[in-house]
Amino acid sequence: MSVEALSGKVFLVVTGASRGIGRQIALTFGSLLEKGSHMLLLARDLNALCEVKKSIPPIVNVDAVRMDLSKATKTDLEEAILKTLKGTTREAFDRVVLVHNVGSLVAKLLNDVTDVNDWRAYYDLNFFVPAVLNAVAMNLFDSKTNTKKLIMTISSIYAVQPFVGSGHYCTAKAAREMYFKVFALENPDVDVLIYAPGFVDTDMSTFSCENTLDPVNKERYCLTRKNKTMLTAEQSINRLVEILKVHKYKSAEVVDYHDPL
Ligand SMILES: NC(=O)c1ccc[n+]([C@@H]2O[C@H](COP(=O)([O-])OP(=O)(O)OC[C@H]3O[C@@H](n4cnc5c(N)ncnc54)[C@H](OP(=O)(O)O)[C@@H]3O)[C@@H](O)[C@H]2O)c1
Repeated sequence: MSVEALSGKVFLVVTGASRGIGRQIALTFGSLLEKGSHMLLLARDLNALCEVKKSIPPIVNVDAVRMDLSKATKTDLEEAILKTLKGTTREAFDRVVLVHNVGSLVAKLLNDVTDVNDWRAYYDLNFFVPAVLNAVAMNLFDSKTNTKKLIMTISSIYAVQPFVGSGHYCTAKAAREMYFKVFALENPDVDVLIYAPGFVDTDMSTFSCENTLDPVNKERYCLTRKNKTMLTAEQSINRLVEILKVHKYKSAEVVDYHDPL
């Protein structure tokens, strides 16, 4: 299947590529990339990243890099990207595709959070470091490189709908969506897609089912799990590929798995 948005020589970065949705993005996108493309996969579990790498066709150069994205600095991110460029130049790529997939979930009531470091640690991983990574990639592949750019962020209904016990997740997802809306205004040449993947069977959704403090959601999640109506990561990412293929969205528009194509 040819997807214009992933065609030519692509430099692809996926955060949180060791498990769940990010792993599936790496596998599915990796299988669609053309010869000479490069991929940078980031997460903490290097063994899991190496397993993902093994399943990507050898025509694609894959770098699996262990990185704690809650602690990564501008220099760490820049060095990882430059290392993945090994033996080639930025100008050699037709496209840069950056997938901000990494995310984490905590279940806490807002009145129980009185330590500012609790908020900081959560926002480092879920908002600040993705924002810095985005800027680092944009500066490395600036207009002089003449490279087309596609930026995706994995979002959620939680960005627009409040849920009990999900203050960290809801506020960070809302902030991340708004970051990319402003970013799209400032960078009209960049294609930005905010994708809400539906309720997907991953470690995060298992955590959510077991720990959510919202009684309505708890019942809904348990039922979805019991009835096996949860999406697989493969289903959700196949839909993402279709969305990219038909490309009806405007830059920085939120597209949900359940939206009509
Ligand atoms: N699952 C759903 O139903 C659902 C619904 C809507 C939106 N989403 C969003 O989709 C994205 C992926 O979710 P998921 O369900 O696939 O989650 P997941 O199964 O928990 O996977 C999270 C990924 O992020 C990585 N990660 C976590 N902390 C990290 C850190 N400090 N540094 C580097 N990497 C880190 C993990 O790898 P390591 O542990 O190896 O570091 C893993 O690869 C998230 O943004 C989530 O909010 C998920």
